[in-house]
Amino acid sequence: SIHPVILCGGSGTRLWPRSRKAKPKPFLPLVGDRTLFEATLARCPPAEGFAYPVIVTGAVHVPHVETQIGEATDARIVVEPAPKNTAAAIALAAQRLPTDAVMLVCPSDHHIGNPKAFRQAAHAAARLARDGMMVAMAIEPTHPETGYGYIRHGEPIEGGGRRIAQFVEKPDLARATQFLAEGGYSWNGGIFAFRAGDFLEELATYRPALAEAVRRSVEEGCETGSAFHPDAGHFAKIEPESVDYAVMEETRRAAMVPAAMGWSDIGGWPALRDTLEGDERGNRTRGKVELRDCRNVLADTDGPRISIIGMDDIAVVVDGDEVLVTSMSGAQEVGKLEGAANQ
Ligand code: GDD
Ligand code: MG
Repeated sequence: SIHPVILCGGSGTRLWPRSRKAKPKPFLPLVGDRTLFEATLARCPPAEGFAYPVIVTGAVHVPHVETQIGEATDARIVVEPAPKNTAAAIALAAQRLPTDAVMLVCPSDHHIGNPKAFRQAAHAAARLARDGMMVAMAIEPTHPETGYGYIRHGEPIEGGGRRIAQFVEKPDLARATQFLAEGGYSWNGGIFAFRAGDFLEELATYRPALAEAVRRSVEEGCETGSAFHPDAGHFAKIEPESVDYAVMEETRRAAMVPAAMGWSDIGGWPALRDTLEGDERGNRTRGKVELRDCRNVLADTDGPRISIIGMDDIAVVVDGDEVLVTSMSGAQEVGKLEGAANQ
């Protein structure tokens, strides 16, 4: 069976003002009625071959996790003493699982339109993980996005999947453009499968200090109810680094499985708009909204009515006492706004 390892970390300032420090992106119902975190858990049910999940999160998010955990009452929660990025977060979960357990690392802030295709890819990835591979789910790229990792396709593996010839985390625009022109590259979806022991081995090889600090913080950690608290002193010594740089770029055991599953990491308002179903003019609205002569507008309010005339390609978001109005092309700047930065 496969243990989902669910990462609830970052604050997602690009979806401000809906996403706030106190209630970040994973815990919001951005697509449909369920929150992204709830949907992430629901994608991995016991009936489909998944074992108890491990949720790695910061202390401030634990109340959200507990209220949204639903039927996954067997979940184990690991509370990070401090955010140290994904290599450390995944290592914590690995330390808490049996050595030969297959972990499926799932970010809790993505949308996956086709959960069935996700599960097929998960089982294909788990098969390779049982052969000792470090497996990434590969997404068909559509544009030279610089916020993603890129996977260069290697040799096909008998029975499905491929080796990864090279893993390049967040290339600059020139390189990303070149990768797309060349062909034979996928995006890294940020969803990984490996055995817990294999991950810790690779981490110890390429980032020994990080691996050792995590090991000692778990060794000296303590349990309270369903949550585990690693020792803060050892954890504080960790140099934050993502799993992409610390392990996936380095390992010689990297493999990929293609995953056509309607994936989006909802990296901002334009991506959220494209994830939601639009009306015949491409408008997406939530709450009290009146649009006249508008196209491809996202209007989302939790209170006051939004009324717009004659606008294309903008987002208007009302959340409590904050109002955001942005062009879609300007929306990647949202995180730099004073409201988003100083919340
Ligand atoms: N618990 C915990 N602690 N979770 C964390 C931490 C942490 O310190 N840091 C990040 N996370 C969680 C985030 O909440 C998110 O769900 C996931 O780990 C990935 O982190 P991001 O910060 O969102 O990474 P990214 O989007 O820049 O890049 C990653 O994802 C891309 C796809 O969305 C990389 O894996 C890229 O290669 C990939 O293309
Ligand atoms: Mg992300």
